[in-house]
Amino acid sequence: MGSWHTNQVIYQIYPKSFQDSNNDGIGDLRGIIERIPYLKSLGVTTIWLNPIYVSPQVDNGYDVSNYYTIDDKLGSMADMEVLIQRLHEQGMYLIMDFVMNHTSDQHPWFKDAVQNPKGLYRDYYLWANSKDGGYPNNWGSFFGGSVWSRDPGKTKQYYFHLFDSHMPDLNWNNPEVRNSMLEIAKYWVNKGIDGLRLDAFIHIDKADFDQNVPNGSDEPVVAEEFYAHLPKVQPYLKQFCSQLRAIKPDLFIIGEAASASPELLAEYSRPTNGECDAVITFRSLVDKIPQPDSELPLTYQPKQLDVEGMKQQLATIEAKLAGISLPVLYWSNHDMARLASRYASKCYRLQSLKCLATMLYLQRGIPIIYYGEEIGMDNLKLDQPIDFNDLTVTDFYGKAMQQGYTHSEVMQMLNQTHKIPARGSMRWNQQQNNAGFSEHTPWLSGETHFVDVATEEDDADSLLNFYRSLIKIKRTELFTSGTEIIKNTPQGIYQFVRRLGKSAVVVTCNLTDQSIEIPMIKNTSTRFAEGKIRMLEDAVSYGPWAFTIKDILED
Ligand code: GLC
Ligand code: CA
Repeated sequence: MGSWHTNQVIYQIYPKSFQDSNNDGIGDLRGIIERIPYLKSLGVTTIWLNPIYVSPQVDNGYDVSNYYTIDDKLGSMADMEVLIQRLHEQGMYLIMDFVMNHTSDQHPWFKDAVQNPKGLYRDYYLWANSKDGGYPNNWGSFFGGSVWSRDPGKTKQYYFHLFDSHMPDLNWNNPEVRNSMLEIAKYWVNKGIDGLRLDAFIHIDKADFDQNVPNGSDEPVVAEEFYAHLPKVQPYLKQFCSQLRAIKPDLFIIGEAASASPELLAEYSRPTNGECDAVITFRSLVDKIPQPDSELPLTYQPKQLDVEGMKQQLATIEAKLAGISLPVLYWSNHDMARLASRYASKCYRLQSLKCLATMLYLQRGIPIIYYGEEIGMDNLKLDQPIDFNDLTVTDFYGKAMQQGYTHSEVMQMLNQTHKIPARGSMRWNQQQNNAGFSEHTPWLSGETHFVDVATEEDDADSLLNFYRSLIKIKRTELFTSGTEIIKNTPQGIYQFVRRLGKSAVVVTCNLTDQSIEIPMIKNTSTRFAEGKIRMLEDAVSYGPWAFTIKDILED
């Protein structure tokens, strides 16, 4: 773990949606450069950019057709160099997304692989023959349907794609592939970036294609056991990371391991393994569906935070990672609904957002704040299933309509839970066109909650100003380096103690709409309190979403 990594507050920018500098409706690098003063004033220290490479944009940049050039809709290499330089001038760092599991089908390697089945690039990808006239096996893609699509060229083979059919998976067993990907990463490290976010790295090894999911059906089904966390992931990862660290020892490598268990988080980030410095898992967020409809897929049914489940999960992660690496703390990203749409209280919106941020970001770990979260942006309201450009949405919509839901009920479920409406443009100033994002209609638009930076700047009590204070607190040594113990508290209360040397702080959050009484901790002095808090004889009553940060005094 390199030294500068441990006290960062990361801010995730979806480049297409942050700031449009040339009014074409698409955010760009110059837009981000213009907003560096804002980032600085927020107090974040590292910026993570979603992919900005040349891309046909089938999956908004995760389908790369040229890794060595910036997509011209987002800017130029000169812009990128300026961005790196300006961030560094401000003492900030830049992390780039690195798409290593697949390319676009428009990448020259894949085009060549299709055109020349006997050529060098054929083996850059994964191919198989049809079984009994159908797909090679019944494995399902994350984006719906089979992982297999027909060779668009002359052979009768199929190629493998875990995500969209326009995103063929690379064959990491081929040393040429490993070498080519390493060369690309080196190129960017040599440009001066400070870190990489390894996209979907857990999928670079696959099981034998002869295996079917033994469920008695030919219908494709998602089967991570055949394509996630397989044995060669770690050796390939280790080789990749060690060669990058050879040219830049303090490179910050954050892996995306959506389905990693706490045990796997530890394996992927154990310093002696020489792989990632920190790992993002989607399993750190635990939620529940109050009244699930068993006739419908669970994915798009609205959820509530499962406070007890999350307490247990974060305590487990903390126990497994203590002394190994820092957990990654985040409430949302471009792959999930925004925090405000997902877990905010309907009755106590602002207070609940402050409380949720405090509960998570003051724990041991590296916060990643998803752009717009700091002003309370929520998901956009899209009108039609087609707007999501997602097979799984079409499927859900069809099933829900069959079950008798109305169009608007289904759209509400989708808008509240889906990732695409979480990618709306940043709301800078609601007095301006498109809230100051662009003069042009944004590439993705829809109705949304009326929050904006300009209004919140002027309001001492706003979420934005709260985030600024919280980030300052987080950046102190106790909160970046202290140990953590999550306490066993009454349901709905999340409480933890951070300790460093002789200092100790207890953070207490009521994550519900009700008041809850808890035993009083003696000998404390309050550093920060929000919400209705009442002192009783031996207890304290925390009102809805109330929270405190208290120093524990030595006796
Ligand atoms: C990661 C990204 C996601 C993308 C996928 C394929 O999970 O976060 O947005 O669709 O990889 O690259
Ligand atoms: Ca633009």
